[in-house]
Amino acid sequence: MVSPMRFLSGIQPSGNLHLGNYFGAVREHVRSQDHSGGGGGVESYYFIADYHALTTVRDAERLRGLVRDVAIIYLASGIDPARSVLYRQSDVPEVCELTWMLMTVTPMPMLENATSYKDKIARGITADAGLFTYPVLMAADILCQDCDVVPVGKDQVQHVEMARDIGQKFNRLFKSEVFKIPAYRLGSAPYVPGTDGAKMSKSYGNTIDILAEGRALEKSVMGIKTDSTPPDQPKDPEANTVFQLYKMLASPEEADAMAARFRASGPAGISYGQAKKDLLAKIEAHFAPIRERAKALSADPARVDAVLRDGAVKARANARAVLDRARKACGLT
Ligand code: ADP
Ligand code: TRP
Repeated sequence: MVSPMRFLSGIQPSGNLHLGNYFGAVREHVRSQDHSGGGGGVESYYFIADYHALTTVRDAERLRGLVRDVAIIYLASGIDPARSVLYRQSDVPEVCELTWMLMTVTPMPMLENATSYKDKIARGITADAGLFTYPVLMAADILCQDCDVVPVGKDQVQHVEMARDIGQKFNRLFKSEVFKIPAYRLGSAPYVPGTDGAKMSKSYGNTIDILAEGRALEKSVMGIKTDSTPPDQPKDPEANTVFQLYKMLASPEEADAMAARFRASGPAGISYGQAKKDLLAKIEAHFAPIRERAKALSADPARVDAVLRDGAVKARANARAVLDRARKACGLT
């Protein structure tokens, strides 16, 4: 029997999830799950990286709330616990022991060269050891689930490569095949621009949140930065945030029609105001049902807890088996 391909990815509960997280991560994860079935199929593992979030969230109540929100958004967006394993990272504490074992074989220069670490330092964030060693915890997340594929956004590719290097080095040093070495897989929407045109990120205050509604949603969409080209002048759709976001939500035909109006001059042209209204309508149509399901789940916390509990049982069993192999290989038995 062919064993199913195992997909694994994680998302940090470090702020409200936004359209960048949705297109870059959540929707990709739902799609991976939906591609399962047929042949050996696909097994999907998704986790809420709360150990990772401790590097930035220092408020217990807030962390608990953010974890719950991520779980709710995953479920409301289509993650089906009957087909995917959804769990909270800290319910699998084996990952911390494995992190230490991996840390002992991780070269310092590898961590010093991590782009996301260097970016954070460049932005003036004070480095704790947790931020510095974050890629090793991520390597443990990945390696402890014996996964085959790690679907991630572009910004996480280097981390997955580090996980591969660390796993291979451990296998080599201890002359063993403890770790399965997975590949990364880039999603189809690796870059979502924010309301100011830069990468949408909670750190830049330029987000449109998945659960935003009413006035707040309208305000962020109508506030998307544009230049002052008038409606009757041609505009480059690909250089425009409103169009880029619209394209992610519209059918190819609708996107082509909007692009043609951007490029047109005279009365066939489109104003930025109208394009934003069209985008708002698309966001509403896509996310209103997700918001409704999220509200229903918020009213049923026991159901969300049960999903996470079941997920943890499966993820923990995998992690235990990998950790036992690792302990044996290096003499910790
Ligand atoms: P943020 O930048 O808001 O802090 P994270 O770094 O926590 O977001 O990202 C969580 C996930 O969402 C990652 O898989 C990342 O690749 C994806 N992601 C975040 N922002 C974007 C974006 N603007 N475009 C595409 N994917 C994104
Ligand atoms: N570092 C990832 C992020 O910030 C989250 C993450 C933690 C992750 N562990 C992982 C993603 C393992 C994939 C696999 O988005």
